[in-house]
Parts: sequence; structure tokens; C-alpha cells
Amino acid sequence: MNSKKQLGVGVISLGWMGRLHTRSYKGISEHFPELGIEPRLVAAADPVEEIRHTAVNDLGFDKAYADYHDLLADPDVDVVSICSPNFLHKEIALAAIEAGKPFWIEKPMGVNAEESREIAQAADKAQLATAVGFNYRHTPAIEYMRELVRSGKLGRITNVRVWFIADYNSSPQGPLTWRASREKAGAGVVPDLMSHGADLAQYIVGRIASVSAITDTFINERPIPTKMGIGHSGFEIGDEVGPVENEDYVAMLVRFDNGVIGTMESSRVSVGPRAEYIVEVYGTEGSARWNFERLNELEVCESIDGGPTHGYRRAMANPAWGEWHRFQPAIGTSMGFDDMKCIEAAQFLQSVLTGEQIAPSAADAWCAAEVDEATVASAKDGQWHDVPRVEGRLTFDK
Ligand SMILES: NC(=O)c1ccc[n+]([C@@H]2O[C@H](COP(=O)([O-])OP(=O)(O)OC[C@H]3O[C@@H](n4cnc5c(N)ncnc54)[C@H](O)[C@@H]3O)[C@@H](O)[C@H]2O)c1
Repeated sequence: MNSKKQLGVGVISLGWMGRLHTRSYKGISEHFPELGIEPRLVAAADPVEEIRHTAVNDLGFDKAYADYHDLLADPDVDVVSICSPNFLHKEIALAAIEAGKPFWIEKPMGVNAEESREIAQAADKAQLATAVGFNYRHTPAIEYMRELVRSGKLGRITNVRVWFIADYNSSPQGPLTWRASREKAGAGVVPDLMSHGADLAQYIVGRIASVSAITDTFINERPIPTKMGIGHSGFEIGDEVGPVENEDYVAMLVRFDNGVIGTMESSRVSVGPRAEYIVEVYGTEGSARWNFERLNELEVCESIDGGPTHGYRRAMANPAWGEWHRFQPAIGTSMGFDDMKCIEAAQFLQSVLTGEQIAPSAADAWCAAEVDEATVASAKDGQWHDVPRVEGRLTFDK
């Protein structure tokens, strides 16, 4: 007899992230058996007919709706994933809250800090569990880096460097998607990639108190797509071009509440790095460095018995780091990006069932959005900007 707790899942928008959320729910029974949860893929929602067909015929959903309102009204849907382009997040999240459905939403949660605040406060008021796609937090090497920082093994943390450099828009022939529209995606790379960077920095080091920033757009027009793709690929383009309305690049100086200082930088148009998402933490007795392109490794430099450090050692992810033990049986065998999302899915459903906010929360996403907003304001007026204090069910400082 199946004694597992069944939860009906609805996934809104089945692009790159929607399909990844779908796979992640499927992995929970296998990787987190002790939770006793069996997610059931009840419904998907996407306006594209071909995608609805895929949802039912290939991805395992019972049904697919064209309009997300029908999914939210479905009594068999207990929890919802919101994986739409950024400009739809607020209306869908508020509708999910109205329908009483806990939600796992992709980052950036809102197009700006104001939208993020509205969503976070409404979810808190309704006492709904939430989750946000800050997946890099769940990387075992990042969990271990956080442990090194919090245990004092690196001494007093003095400075950090966070670098989210990608090439996904480096070609001028790359299509003009919703990501290049200020109305649909906000301030470009700032909420897109730097929201991850801000969350990671706060998760490892503590609250960001103030920022000083510069931004720029390096490719000012792009070809309009004639056929849509998924994520960053599969698009076809024509001869017509349109304007890029938001930021390709951002560089920031940051001060944390606890006195740590740092530099942060992000680009979506760099030629060379593919997805170099790097976090470096420097302390008075050691340091640690991580790069997403080698996500199963951490470079660690520690003092040996108070003596010299002898430089970095390369440590591989292992059963003692985060949730690694759930995914691989032998050190040296790698976890991947999708596994981070499976951990996030498990944390989301655990938050729903226990009432304790375990997954990165809507309040965390609002907090990252305030860092982004202060960044954009600083780039505009050339001044340092304080980051307004966010209250709510924050998890980064737990
Ligand atoms: N956590 C991460 O690392 C990560 C990575 C990539 C994207 N994202 C985020 O995920 C979100 C989606 O990005 P993506 O790359 O999956 O996008 P995508 O372009 O691949 O897919 C978007 C989907 O939304 C659907 N859609 C469009 N209008 C809709 C509507 N009115 N109702 C319902 N669905 C609609 C489209 O048909 C498409 O299937 C964005 O917010 C993005 O920032 C997060």
C-alpha cells in the first residue's frame, strides 16, 4: 500500500525552467524518500498548444490548460510552480496567493523591488510557504563554503568577490527576447544574474548594507525572432531589428552589515566565460573559491594548526557536504545543475508540509531585489545607496 503523502502539482509555463521544475518534482521520491512525499503532475499551463501537447504526452501531466487561471482553479492542484517570463510573475503569484496555493517561483521574483515586496508581503500575510529559484545555494560546495565561513575556520572574513559572467547574449545575432525589454525583464542582467549573486553573497556572508555601481549596455539592438525558442536556444531570426532596453553589464562595490566589503560583477554578453559564476571568500586565516563551471570542486586555503597555509588545495564534493550523498555514490562522480533544482523542489514541498520555511523564500527574493534596485539607482546617480531593510520569513541568515 502507498502510504506516501500525495501532493498535486501544477506547473505554469513550460519553457526551460518549467520543464526543469517538472523533472525536479519527479526526483523527490528517489532522492528524498524519508520525506514520504509523492508529487503528482496534475496540470501544466502554457499558451502554446504544441507545449501543452508535450506536457501531456511526454512530460507526464494529466492535463494542460491554455490559461493559468484554470490551473489555479483546479481543486486537484495543491502547489504551483511559476516559471513564466518575469513580467508575468507578479500577476500569477498574487493569483496563486488568492487561490491559497503555495508557490515555487523563479527568480527574479518581480520585475523590480516594488513588485517583489508586494508578492512577499501578500504570501507572508496569507502564511503560505514559498520557494524561489536561488538554486546555487544548494550546491554542496557552496554549503561547505558557508560552513567554513560560519565556523570561523577562515578567521574573520574581510572581503568577498562575486562574479556572474555569462555569454548567453554575447552574439549580436542573438535574438531580441523578453529578456531585453525593460518592462518585461526589468534592469537586464541585474535582476537576471545578479539576483543570484546577491542572494549567494547574503547566504554566505550576511546582509548587504549598501552598494555603489556602474552599468552599461554593450549591444544596443538585436534581431527580432521569427520563431520562439526555449531558454536561450532554438530561436530563429529575421532581418528586422529592435532596441535592447536594459543592462548587459554591472559592476558593484558592496558593504555588508557585518563590516565585510566586496566586489560583484555580472555580464550576459562576455566572450569567453560561458557560465563563470564565481564566489570567493577571503578571511584573516584562509580563503575559499568556487566556480559553477566546476561545481563539484572547492578550492580551500586554510592555516594548518595556526601555521602557514601552503596555498590552495582542491577538494571534491563528498558525502559530508550538503545533500551530495543523496545523488552520487562515489566521490569524483559529479552532481549537475538539475540536482540543485531537485533539492529546491524537496525544500519547497517540505516547507509546505511542515509549515516551516526551509526553501529560499519570497522574503529572500524581495531582499535580493532591494539590492538590485539600490544597484540600479547608484548606477544612475553615481552615489552610494543603502539597501532598505526587508522583514519577513528570511532564510539566508538562518
Ligand atoms: N534559476 C535559474 O537559474 C534560472 C535559469 C533560467 C531562467 N530562470 C527564470 O525562469 C523564468 C523563465 O525563464 P525560461 O528560460 O524558462 O523562459 P522560456 O522563455 O524558456 O519559457 C517561458 C515560457 O513561458 C510561456 N508563457 C509565455 N506567456 C505565458 C502566459 N501568458 N502564461 C503562461 N505561460 C506563458 C512560454 O510559452 C514559454 O513556455 C524567468 O523568470 C527566468 O529569469 C531561472
